[in-house]
Amino acid sequence: MLEDLFSLDGRLAVVTGASGAIGREAARVFLALGATVVMTGRTPEHLDEARASLPADAPVTALLGDARDAGHVAEIAETAAAQGGADILVNSVGTNIRKPLLDATNEDMQFLWDVNMASVWAVTQALVPQMVEKGYGKIINMCSIGSFIGLELKTMYAITKGALAQHTRSAAVELAKYGIRVNGIAPGYVDTPMTHAWIHSEREEQFLSAIPLRRFAQVEDMGGAFAYLASRASDHMTGQLLVLDGGETISSA
Ligand SMILES: NC(=O)c1ccc[n+]([C@@H]2O[C@H](COP(=O)([O-])OP(=O)(O)OC[C@H]3O[C@@H](n4cnc5c(N)ncnc54)[C@H](O)[C@@H]3O)[C@@H](O)[C@H]2O)c1
Repeated sequence: MLEDLFSLDGRLAVVTGASGAIGREAARVFLALGATVVMTGRTPEHLDEARASLPADAPVTALLGDARDAGHVAEIAETAAAQGGADILVNSVGTNIRKPLLDATNEDMQFLWDVNMASVWAVTQALVPQMVEKGYGKIINMCSIGSFIGLELKTMYAITKGALAQHTRSAAVELAKYGIRVNGIAPGYVDTPMTHAWIHSEREEQFLSAIPLRRFAQVEDMGGAFAYLASRASDHMTGQLLVLDGGETISSA
């Protein structure tokens, strides 16, 4: 049955960065498919707003914290363990510093690395034992087209997302024997608070002309990928990135 293929009934999904636009969409989709959700975020008002955007009676736990903080990572793992253990993990924590390579500092690079890659590593390591115990799990990493192409003014970001793609592939190889699938989503521009001012600037036409579908993604465009990668529908897929870029990376425009 098609519904069974996508059902997340009885699943516990941990979504980091769920106070943000894309993570919030993942939480919304998972709840609609029957999952229980643990959502995390760093900014209290954004986390409250994200929680309030979901049905009041939905099975959701919201955890506030910085993903670079080991105590917060431990709290995520403990919260998930107390609810039967994580079946699904979405690593959506991420940030960006747009700067020419020549102006970037070591501190800038270290900050992006810590948020975009080291925190993902730590959260994943903390939750994987719960999936090993179940003999099943789905990890979804928020990568980017910067995982495999160069990006003007975003070399540091591309480095972190390139590493995340490689983390996705290598963890997929290592964890396959436990029934854990590790995949990623690689969007081009998604219109979210992270990108809004940047894409709707004097550069807008230039950006759009590079996208064959001639539009930026909306968060809803990510929903189908979350449903697919979190459910049994994708059980024979691991170590892959779903590229949701309106055709940008297959076009010579
Ligand atoms: N928006 C895009 O165009 C786009 C494209 C490709 C990939 N992505 C990736 O998708 C993910 C989500 O992006 P978004 O557009 O929803 O951005 P967003 O800014 O709306 O959300 C980012 C989330 O990360 C969290 N976060 C940032 N730093 C943190 C920290 N130190 N500790 C804990 N949480 C922290 C924020 O609280 C927020 O929940 C990111 O990894 C981003 O790199 C976004």
